[in-house]
Amino acid sequence: MTEKDTELRISKIRDGTVIDHVPAGEALHVLAILGIDGSGGEGVSLGMNVPSETMGHKDIVKVEGREMSQAELDVLSLIAPDATVNIVRDYAVAEKTEIEPPEQVAGLLSCPNRHCITNAGEPVETRFDVLDEGVRCAYCETIVREEITDHLAV
Ligand code: CTP
Ligand code: ZN
Repeated sequence: MTEKDTELRISKIRDGTVIDHVPAGEALHVLAILGIDGSGGEGVSLGMNVPSETMGHKDIVKVEGREMSQAELDVLSLIAPDATVNIVRDYAVAEKTEIEPPEQVAGLLSCPNRHCITNAGEPVETRFDVLDEGVRCAYCETIVREEITDHLAV
């Protein structure tokens, strides 16, 4: 199967977001970051392990009627650093953004350290510094290296 066949296999969307060039196998994590579990009623199509000229295999996530916030894109960059985010309006790609890793991510992750100030019931938003090897809590310096999506604060 070629990349063109994939294009034919997953329908185009009318309005929404296409997250392309997601590492193969990460599509469900992308949905977790976006807080999408189907209960919101949005149309979602996934391509998993589809052939890609540049990546060998890749995942694609298409969400109808929804655009992404910068905070969501920041967390997305941690699992899909080379993803392309296409905003689709009236069937055409209206905006195309290459994801860039931010220096910090705020709000979307929770700290695994029970004693961290962010877990003390105070009105403190979580903040993590982005490192090459993972993310580090800006308050207690706990480092999360793997399975970052297990720490989504949603
Ligand atoms: N797409 C879609 N629905 C539309 C328009 C585009 O699902 N109405 C999808 C395409 O299938 C593709 C992605 O959005 O997966 C980007 O579309 P486009 O920019 O036309 O494709 P390419 O030029 O191949 O993108 P890139 O250069 O980023 O690889
Ligand atoms: Zn902490």
